[in-house]
Amino acid sequence: MGENMKVTGTTGLKGTVNIPGDKSISHRSIMLAGLADTPVKITNFLHAADCWSTIDCMRALRVRVEQGDAGVLTVTGNGFYGLREPHEVLDAGNSGTTIRLMTGLLGVQPFFSVMTGDASLRKRPMARVITPLARMGINVKGREQSRYAPLAILAAEQIQGIEYDMPVASAQVKSAILLAALFANSPTIVTEPMPSRDHTERMFETFGIPVKREGNSIIIEPVQKVDAPEQIDVPGDISSAAFWLVAASIIPNSQLVLVNVGINPTRTGILDILTQMGADITVTNERWSGREPVADIIVRSAKLQGVTIGAEIIPRLIDEIPVLTVAALFAEGQTIVTGAEELRVKETDRLKAVVLELGKMGAAIDETADGLIINGPQKINFASCNSHHDHRMAMALAVAGAAAQGVEIEEPDCVKISYPDFFSILAALRQE
Ligand code: S3P
Repeated sequence: MGENMKVTGTTGLKGTVNIPGDKSISHRSIMLAGLADTPVKITNFLHAADCWSTIDCMRALRVRVEQGDAGVLTVTGNGFYGLREPHEVLDAGNSGTTIRLMTGLLGVQPFFSVMTGDASLRKRPMARVITPLARMGINVKGREQSRYAPLAILAAEQIQGIEYDMPVASAQVKSAILLAALFANSPTIVTEPMPSRDHTERMFETFGIPVKREGNSIIIEPVQKVDAPEQIDVPGDISSAAFWLVAASIIPNSQLVLVNVGINPTRTGILDILTQMGADITVTNERWSGREPVADIIVRSAKLQGVTIGAEIIPRLIDEIPVLTVAALFAEGQTIVTGAEELRVKETDRLKAVVLELGKMGAAIDETADGLIINGPQKINFASCNSHHDHRMAMALAVAGAAAQGVEIEEPDCVKISYPDFFSILAALRQE
């Protein structure tokens, strides 16, 4: 059990932040590079616990991953059919992306494997991947009638393509199916109710795999090999930048320059919503990082107004709701979040956790079945709060404390999941 983290209120945040690599893209870069037969260099990889879970799993399947200067990775696979049966249970740790995507990739292999994860991951729904994969002929079993990990993944025989209408917009489920589809004997069509992040599709194209898009459908033909790039430059993670976007907006006298932020349109809901709230955000220096768009973002303090966040935008800001709730507490007027029931099955039930923990700081937030209602602005006091072992909860609480009278965060170490340097960067940006 680590020590609590104390964050005191600050009069302003100033400086430049190099945004750490995108978590979703980091996972995918290792998985795809692991199917190649030439080495792939990965720069700006997110060296955080979740992405290391993926590295450990791929290493157990005999993919070589070496770390060079400045955290640059070199991944050397054994070709498209080169993964080998692991000797041990694979541990995805806290990472939903690792377990769900790897289940698609492992389900098509001619060997047996078992995947598990930490206490939080073992409570998260897995039937959503097992059900479509079973229709492809993939044999995965889990605890409690295949609802939860650990998952036992049997050696594959015939894998067929499917047409699948996804009941929930989930990039993890979509990606598990698309990875399996590469190894099938017929094409696969996946249709989403709303577009979720498309990093897998873009990474496929980076590896020479054709991707057809028709409306909300993605069509993948099976392949025999991938054409690996020599290098992948991972863009900065907009979900990590989100904490600085909100902090600089609500803390007076702030100005931050966020460098190398991924602005893939399936991820930029946070920019749209903060702009609607009246935030002072300038997106500059737009460029490409492979097939992913990136930019630098300047954010200055601003007076925010309440906003309505509806189901249609939720997939584009799914991980940003905890910190947007903090923004809403400092905004004038009402903020309503609906269509966000997926938050109940994240690292923790994030709707319940924000109401409970920000409530300890004096915030009155109404929890609905699928969202939140926040009337702002509210007076926020110092309190001791708990992260629920959820990295995004810990960082959202830190932003609330820095913008108000401070906060003591119990179990703050979970920031290592996606942003290990978060607290030291916050300390360096403070103007006292
Ligand atoms: C992710 C997809 C999202 C997101 C998660 C990462 C991914 O989950 O919340 O942090 O890398 O594909 P869902 O696809 O389950 O909504």
